[in-house]
Amino acid sequence: MKVLIATEKPFAKVAVDGIRKEIEAAGYELALLEKYTEKAQLLDAVKDADAIIIRSDIVDAEVLDAAKALKIVVRAGAGYDNVDLAAATAHNVCVMNTPGQNANAVAELALGLMVYAVRHFYNGTSGTELMGKKLGIHAYGNVGRNVARIAKGFGMEVYAFDAYCPAAVIEGDGVKALGSAEELYRVCQFVSIHIPATAETKNSINHALLNEMPKNAVLVNTARKEVVNEAELIRLMEERADFIYVSDIMPAAHAEFAEKFPGRYFATPKKMGAQTAEANINAGIAAARQIVGFLRDGNEKFKVN
Ligand code: 3PG
Repeated sequence: MKVLIATEKPFAKVAVDGIRKEIEAAGYELALLEKYTEKAQLLDAVKDADAIIIRSDIVDAEVLDAAKALKIVVRAGAGYDNVDLAAATAHNVCVMNTPGQNANAVAELALGLMVYAVRHFYNGTSGTELMGKKLGIHAYGNVGRNVARIAKGFGMEVYAFDAYCPAAVIEGDGVKALGSAEELYRVCQFVSIHIPATAETKNSINHALLNEMPKNAVLVNTARKEVVNEAELIRLMEERADFIYVSDIMPAAHAEFAEKFPGRYFATPKKMGAQTAEANINAGIAAARQIVGFLRDGNEKFKVN
């Protein structure tokens, strides 16, 4: 059996070593395609792979067509909007993610972006503190929970809205559960987005919702760029000189944001929420174990299609 790691944005070496150990201990072979720049390289590498470990790498019908021996794809991470699930099912390929494995890394970055924003991007001028401020967590999944835990350490007042997570679970963590996204944005000066990109959520963070936010609003996006309606956010930031947007996912309209909102906008050049040795090890080794468990024992835990 051949397991391919196909990562345009590579894991830390220590994580690749750990994955190799798991795969070779099962008697399988490990192949590596890192930092590829052309889809053709991926199409070529998947030809004889029985299993693939990916990150935000696109696995569409064309990739699945090329991967004639493929049985399983594991997205080492949380969001699997980069995989065509219907095409995978049609090709009889199992798709899994590794929920929670990189959640702390993303949560730490979310708080880091908040500090960066309120300290004026470290430009030397006097900023503000997070202590005592209201933080709204939009979706209380693995990342949201970690953001809540860390934000409490900062002394923030933490609120959350999650359409699927019971209020009792949220309240059990000492976080105030609110009944709607509108209420969350209305109450909180800081909002951290942790919703997945789905047909339902794409473009859902719009002008009407964002305009609910109080004065000196800071919107933090470590989720997906697609969930924010960029044209409406630009319009809002033109109308409201107090509004700050910090993102770990460069918007499609990055140049326009950067030009129009100096001092109120920042985006990382490459998504780096999960770019820590720890997250790479956790997610990478979980992916390797899930592949071995599936190929050897038929274990389908974490299957998403
Ligand atoms: C995820 O969904 O797990 C995060 O967005 C991390 O993505 P990455 O593996 O491409 O860094």
